[in-house]
Amino acid sequence: MYLQRRNRILRGNPSIRALVAETSLSPNDFIVPLFIDEGENVKMEIASMPDYYRMSLDNTVKVVKELWNMGLKCVLLFIKCKDEWKDNTGAEAWNENGLMQRSIKAIKDAVPEMVVMTDVALDPYSSYGHDGIVKNGEIVNDETVEALVKMSISHAQAGADFVAPSDMMDGRIGAIRKGLEENGFTKTGIMAYSAKYASCFYGPFRDALDSAPGFGDKKTYQMDYSNRIEAVKEALMDVEEGADIVMVKPALAYLDIIREVKNAVHVPVSAYNISGEYAMVKAAAKMGWINEDKAILETLTAIKRAGADLIATYFAKMR
Ligand code: PBG
Repeated sequence: MYLQRRNRILRGNPSIRALVAETSLSPNDFIVPLFIDEGENVKMEIASMPDYYRMSLDNTVKVVKELWNMGLKCVLLFIKCKDEWKDNTGAEAWNENGLMQRSIKAIKDAVPEMVVMTDVALDPYSSYGHDGIVKNGEIVNDETVEALVKMSISHAQAGADFVAPSDMMDGRIGAIRKGLEENGFTKTGIMAYSAKYASCFYGPFRDALDSAPGFGDKKTYQMDYSNRIEAVKEALMDVEEGADIVMVKPALAYLDIIREVKNAVHVPVSAYNISGEYAMVKAAAKMGWINEDKAILETLTAIKRAGADLIATYFAKMR
């Protein structure tokens, strides 16, 4: 058979495949989420996230040093708030001696070059488990934004490099940027969860932080998974309002959205390979149905190929 082109030539052996690979992963691609709890020497495996832990600050600092030595350069902090400190205002979120603020300081002291990002949303602090303030059964936008601004300033004050608002309230990026500017935090970045969908795949995360909504769901603020154009609108508005990085979340069922947003903006795009996506790989691997290492590499490479410049993932440490 005469063929003018034989595409298999470029797949013939590992060397040529490596030479023509369009996508490769490096530690510079990853953001490592960390779950922090009160106490000392605490290391609690999260039931629905095998091999992933919620740790006290002392153990967290040790892990951050390990991550840095592995070449990882960015952590994203989440804290678990005690029930007695939760209310409907989220006030604990901007307590200058709160667990988040102490964690930011301890991590920056221990590994100053590690880029520290912080989750900004009220859900871990909310007695209702919602990302905002609740009034008459509704999550109110503008009052929540005021709370998020206070929270962001307090994280910046503690030394956070980036605040990462994950709440999906309207106008919060512009308000946070204004708050940071007015308070002299001109070096603090904003990574906006711009296209964050109301997803069933957040379940294991809510176990990790005990932050499941007490009533209803998050569909009045997080996006409807039927929508694509709306994601571009959200990302463009966040860039306009001052976001340094925009995020698409979840990642795997949303690869089309990652690409769409990547093509629309001129800032780095991140994607969050979330808890339920982690849990699915872990569960199938445990059953012996897929090869865990191969599944992780294929998944993360696909997210990067889709257009993610950065990937928040619970798999970063293993790779
Ligand atoms: C809360 C927040 C969530 C995640 C990150 N920040 C959960 C939610 O919106 O209910 C999910 C992360 C994951 O599932 O890995 N603002």
